[in-house]
Amino acid sequence: MANATADHRGQIRTRDRVRSLAEVYTHEREVNAMLDLIPDMFPTSFSDVDVKFLEPACGSGNFLEEILRRKLATIRFSRIKAVANYEHRMLRALASIYGVDICAENVAEARDRLLDVVRSHYYCDANTIEPTDGFVSGVRAILVTNIMRADMLAQADTTEAIDYRPGRHGTFIRVWSMLDDSASVETAPDLFSQGPEPKRDEVPVHYSRLAATPEPTRVPAFASKAVSA
Ligand SMILES: C[S@@+](CC[C@H](N)C(=O)[O-])C[C@H]1O[C@@H](n2cnc3c(N)ncnc32)[C@H](O)[C@@H]1O
Repeated sequence: MANATADHRGQIRTRDRVRSLAEVYTHEREVNAMLDLIPDMFPTSFSDVDVKFLEPACGSGNFLEEILRRKLATIRFSRIKAVANYEHRMLRALASIYGVDICAENVAEARDRLLDVVRSHYYCDANTIEPTDGFVSGVRAILVTNIMRADMLAQADTTEAIDYRPGRHGTFIRVWSMLDDSASVETAPDLFSQGPEPKRDEVPVHYSRLAATPEPTRVPAFASKAVSA
């Protein structure tokens, strides 16, 4: 049998892809067993949804899907009660998950699977509450930036990723850096570095505006004059 195609949730698609991409997916059983080894990476209370995960060869998202499901498990509308807070918390859980794959088809599938996890959590948990349009656009914006197509062996230092830092009232401050930026300005300041300032939002962005403002926000000129006067 030359090129047997497996079910897309099976462990291989084709023999060619196993040869060219080393594409052998991890079975759900092993995904769960491995994630069970790191229980403290997942939220047990209200405060820990922002722990970051990066899967550098994420395939169609077997690990990402389960990571997101575990993060969302503690986010309950019955506890949060306000739609805006509920949606912001779910977006925080999503925005701290990153996946990279060299294959565009895998990237698209991983994004779709994460979207499905968010959607089904919302509908099962919040019951009759409808997701706002701003939330849906925020989910899509985050999936586009966080689930990336790149060659992790050749492009990690030239592939941009966004750190979504949660703020008050449903906002984020986004800080852009390269995926392989081990000497981040925030964590290891280098006073002699001639490198450019990291790209970042000067004004917090509400989650409903993430898609509409893909570039860093700037303080309006009249406001910065007022501050420096
Ligand atoms: C063994 S599969 C693992 C998929 C997933 N992590 C899982 O466990 O189910 C390897 C994946 O790595 C991707 N890949 C291969 N070379 C890569 C590279 N240089 N950069 C990023 N992804 C790569 C392939 O497209 C494939 O989806």
